[in-house]
Amino acid sequence: MRLISPHGGRLIDRFVSGKEAEALEAKAPGLPRITLNSRETADLEMISVGAMSPLEGFMVRADYEGVVERMHLARGAAWTIPITLNAPAELAGGIQEGTEIALYDERGQFLAVMEVEDKFRPDKMREAEMVLRTTDDAHPGVQYLKGTGEVYLGGPIKVVHKPGHEDFTDFRLDPKETRVLFKARGWETITAFQTRNPIHRAHEYIQKCALEIVQGLLIHPLMGATKADDIPGDVRMACYKALLDNYYPKDRVALSIFPAAMRYAGPREAIFHALVRKNYGCTHLIVGRDHAGVGKYYGTYDAHHIFAEFDRDELDITPMFFDHSFFCKRCGNMATIKTCPHPSEDRVFLSGTKVREMLSRGEDLPVEFTRPEVAEVLMRAASK
Ligand code: ADX
Repeated sequence: MRLISPHGGRLIDRFVSGKEAEALEAKAPGLPRITLNSRETADLEMISVGAMSPLEGFMVRADYEGVVERMHLARGAAWTIPITLNAPAELAGGIQEGTEIALYDERGQFLAVMEVEDKFRPDKMREAEMVLRTTDDAHPGVQYLKGTGEVYLGGPIKVVHKPGHEDFTDFRLDPKETRVLFKARGWETITAFQTRNPIHRAHEYIQKCALEIVQGLLIHPLMGATKADDIPGDVRMACYKALLDNYYPKDRVALSIFPAAMRYAGPREAIFHALVRKNYGCTHLIVGRDHAGVGKYYGTYDAHHIFAEFDRDELDITPMFFDHSFFCKRCGNMATIKTCPHPSEDRVFLSGTKVREMLSRGEDLPVEFTRPEVAEVLMRAASK
């Protein structure tokens, strides 16, 4: 049985150990020091374990420009999201190309040494325009770009300590581990489900439609930085467990955390989500309505359309597109406009804002919208 090849053909591993790790650890205090923010720390983790294969470090200018302008790395592989390391200009001033720097997390833990191959000033508003399709300050991705340093540092990393996590430690499988799991389960076709929300009936419906076609489902909730009003990770995990315990066949589903930060880059992020999930061993990715979107910046199906801009072979992973799904009271089922002929008055749609309002008033969420076990977790969290 063969699993899908990682992007670029080889699963990258940037960890060093033994004497080499000891030498870097001893050298780190004497090197210029950069403290990574939570997005950069998550990116470093994903680079080190191969989730971002073929990347071996933070992007140098040629890769960055290739990605921003053409959605491809300098050597030609498809890639849509810049993976960058910021430095304030005054700090970057003392760092020369060709030298090494030490990377720490916000808790002060030494993580890695990076060889600075490139130091450059990005045009961040061009990046926003191309990657996020907006320069509007209200977009969380634009806010991030405006709130971080003026200079990017790029180069390969050597990782001594993997970023630490105290939460959900039983649910943090690296690409090597998900690949072992898929083999052990005998799955050759696996669809990944990206999410930053609790799983409601619409999500469940598209997952189960997908499971009619492929052998395994990897529920892969994103647990890196999200915007402040997204539902916290611990509440979401409790929702996922309640749902899996009650409504999913255990031998067809796996739950593991995706450590990435959310970019809210809509279509570009859908391609990124696909490439990265391929590295975890998935053959398919579910892409529903307004995937990775925020506000009204993207069309409902822009994240479907962007896949047509790539050759099938270069992405290699297969997107499974789903229309906006809802519960139809007349059908008595979950459905989409592809399968339901009834008018919108018969359909149950609830926006995230509406759900938050109902929860804050202590109102029950309708069973057509979410399973009672999930509603209970959300109501308990809202009443705290
Ligand atoms: S996302 O930012 O991670 O995309 P979310 O957790 O809401 O947000 O969505 C997870 C996946 O489910 C995405 O592929 C999204 O397109 C899809 N999705 C969310 N709601 C619906 C819906 N009502 N109908 C169809 N697909 C949906």
